[in-house]
Amino acid sequence: MSRQEGDRRIDWAQDHMPILEALLKERREEQPLQGERVGIALHLEAKTARLALALKELGAEVAIAGSNPLSTQDAVAEALAARGVHVYARHGAAVEEYFRYLDQVLSHRPTLVVDDGGDLVTRLHLTQPELLEGLRGGTEETTTGLVRLRAMHAAGELKAPMIAVNDAKMKHLFDNRFGTGQSALEAVMHATNLTIAGRYALVVGFGQCGKGVAQRLRGLGARVGVVDIDPVKMNEAWLDGYDVGTMHDLSPKADIVITVTGALRVVRREHLERMRDGVLLANAGHFDVEIDKQALADLASSVERVRDSVDAYRLPDGRRFYLLAEGRLVNLAAGDGHPAEIMDLSFAVQALALLHVVGHRLPPGVHAYPDELDDQVAKLSLTARGIGLEVETEEQVRYRATWREGTQ
Ligand SMILES: NC(=O)c1ccc[n+]([C@@H]2O[C@H](COP(=O)([O-])OP(=O)(O)OC[C@H]3O[C@@H](n4cnc5c(N)ncnc54)[C@H](O)[C@@H]3O)[C@@H](O)[C@H]2O)c1
Repeated sequence: MSRQEGDRRIDWAQDHMPILEALLKERREEQPLQGERVGIALHLEAKTARLALALKELGAEVAIAGSNPLSTQDAVAEALAARGVHVYARHGAAVEEYFRYLDQVLSHRPTLVVDDGGDLVTRLHLTQPELLEGLRGGTEETTTGLVRLRAMHAAGELKAPMIAVNDAKMKHLFDNRFGTGQSALEAVMHATNLTIAGRYALVVGFGQCGKGVAQRLRGLGARVGVVDIDPVKMNEAWLDGYDVGTMHDLSPKADIVITVTGALRVVRREHLERMRDGVLLANAGHFDVEIDKQALADLASSVERVRDSVDAYRLPDGRRFYLLAEGRLVNLAAGDGHPAEIMDLSFAVQALALLHVVGHRLPPGVHAYPDELDDQVAKLSLTARGIGLEVETEEQVRYRATWREGTQ
């Protein structure tokens, strides 16, 4: 892909991100990020490029690295660098190289950080704690990153205020569910060029992402099984009509397994041993730890790349297990990530969170996303789509506030 294609991708995303545009329109003149240096670690593809450019348009100096070694799109990275953002990323970076890029972002001495998964913020604390003095705070994009930040805070080690962007309603209810639902399946279909219909698909983890993935699998004609460790989620999946049970019981039926738990090794040797020939194994959770790749390698007599993003693990008994995108989050490592309209919501949430950090002196810790900012993004989204919003009458407001009126 050429830099020209990178430019086209950024422009296409921008044309489909009206909420971010509306936020910029109201603030461009004011330059609220003038003098700020924003360090970003996010999946470096077109929608993220749009966010980086938006922060620059608000006055910030912006430096960016990828948040996963496989999710960077090089053409987009090149195009973004040509538009004046400091870019440190390459698709397929080795792990040391990936961390070197994070260090290069930190070399800009960020006053604000935008993290996705916690690698940038933990790196800053562990290797360059002197930067904390100039750091106002930042944002965390994903569930797994927040789990890490909360563990850090509980251990008394988090020294900066971080806004829990993932927990914003306008983020996780749409990005995690509808974004991951669509983009994970898009990536599986593109990587394999096989049908979803007629296959038995097992979704491991029935949280925000898992619900979206299960719903879309069903819509495409798969028979869908669900595994979770949370008894409430298992009841919900049961009443939603999914096949529910344990990994032990359901994994032998699976033609496709998609993990979305954020947990370590949910697909292990004892499950792999029971799986059928031809099973597709994909992960949409943040880190490549959900499918035990070592166990796969131990079981296999050979491993061969059979398509871009598909590795065939052949077992001595003849079975083939296909691992997609090396077990890294499939929708970004083997696809384009979430649709632009979804990332428009998430990145509008991000932009407002950064402005909130700049406008307030927050103490270190993980901060809830302010409700009024959530409402602002929700309303801008309706306006952008020309959707009307019902308004309560004064009588309804009074009725809601009284406890005297009941049965009439
Ligand atoms: N691919 C993407 O684009 C994308 C987007 C958003 C979030 N994520 C990542 O996806 C993962 C899940 O995010 P979420 O927002 O759905 O989280 P969530 O907390 O809403 O859901 C996770 C679910 O997994 C279940 N679970 C945990 N351990 C398990 C285990 N051992 N076995 C079975 N189930 C288990 C939990 O009970 C929960 O229901 C995280 O790593 C998150 O960072 C990825």
